[in-house]
Amino acid sequence: MNHAVIIGTGSALPERVLTNFDLERMVDTSDEWITTRTGIKTRRIAGKDENTSQLASRAARRALEMAGLGPADLDCIIVGTITPDMTMPSCACLVQKELAANRAFAFDLNAACSGFLFSLDVADKYLCANPAMKILVIGAETLSSRVNWQDRNTCVLFGDGAGACVVTGTKAERGILASRLFADGSLWELLHLEAAPSLNQELRRPGQEGAAIRMAGREVFKIAVRAMADALQQVLAEAQVEVGRVGLVIPHQANIRIIKSLADHLSLPMEKIYVNVDKYGNTSAATIPIAIDEASRTGRLREGDLLLLCSFGGGFTWGATLIRW
Ligand SMILES: CC(C)(COP(=O)(O)OP(=O)(O)OC[C@H]1O[C@@H](n2cnc3c(N)ncnc32)[C@H](O)[C@@H]1OP(=O)(O)O)[C@@H](O)C(=O)NCCC(=O)NCCS
Repeated sequence: MNHAVIIGTGSALPERVLTNFDLERMVDTSDEWITTRTGIKTRRIAGKDENTSQLASRAARRALEMAGLGPADLDCIIVGTITPDMTMPSCACLVQKELAANRAFAFDLNAACSGFLFSLDVADKYLCANPAMKILVIGAETLSSRVNWQDRNTCVLFGDGAGACVVTGTKAERGILASRLFADGSLWELLHLEAAPSLNQELRRPGQEGAAIRMAGREVFKIAVRAMADALQQVLAEAQVEVGRVGLVIPHQANIRIIKSLADHLSLPMEKIYVNVDKYGNTSAATIPIAIDEASRTGRLREGDLLLLCSFGGGFTWGATLIRW
């Protein structure tokens, strides 16, 4: 059967670096607290000309370059995001315009931090039916526009960035081998954001009810570990792959303690787990494609490696995907 294979990756991060020491001057927190409770040291903050669609387009250009394709070769653009520039048009349509990818249809997909994995799964299903398609799958966010900078419980956790993959179809033993997605809307209140568009300056003013992320961190933490571990095990079982054969795991990058708990659940050494949460914090839908791009460009991923992805986010949404690189 046809399935998706990644043929190009790219990422883009804002210039501005916000350190834990900078945050010490903004809220009642410390580098020591943030580092020990989350593993985060720095995060990137979008400035002018670094809207979600602009970061997404930069990441996309790099992915297209690696794939040896031009924008006119694209049939479809899917952007996983909860921070589109506007509610309408979609971020994906703005990327289509920016790239001049005139043949491509384009749409956003909202699955919060699972947005990239869900988008990749949708692309996989298109490619199953039509393997010649070239699809751009992006995870892009500017969460800095949607956090309350007076709330130390959340503002230290998030960052901005974008990652992109170009995928096409294949029958070969490479690409997506198995994928499982899940959702549980009954727990929505534990992690939510009422207002969406990130260009609306009015919404960015402090004190705007519902304009910032709200989260019950401890509950989210426990559910995230259980849900991702379960999704990973289901995907491995479906593909009949022993966990020891996995070359690299790229989990959603929210908190180093969640990542370490996952490694324990799977009995995998930390050397097999990709971690960059220290540099970028939680960039929501962008964490996984940014990490895939870094891992592929730095040689952490080699042809034939088994790569496991897993995510967890607001909704709740979660999932896992197994890929042969
Ligand atoms: C948010 C999170 C880091 C908090 O860590 P925790 O160990 O659970 O900490 P708690 O929430 O129990 O808070 C412990 C104390 O630290 C305080 N605290 C919270 N943020 C703080 C900060 N930035 N600096 C200093 N103290 C802080 C709390 O107010 C609390 O104080 P209290 O005991 O006086 O009430 C952690 O729960 C987490 O990562 N959760 C998952 C979040 C996540 O990944 N969300 C996205 C999923 S996609």
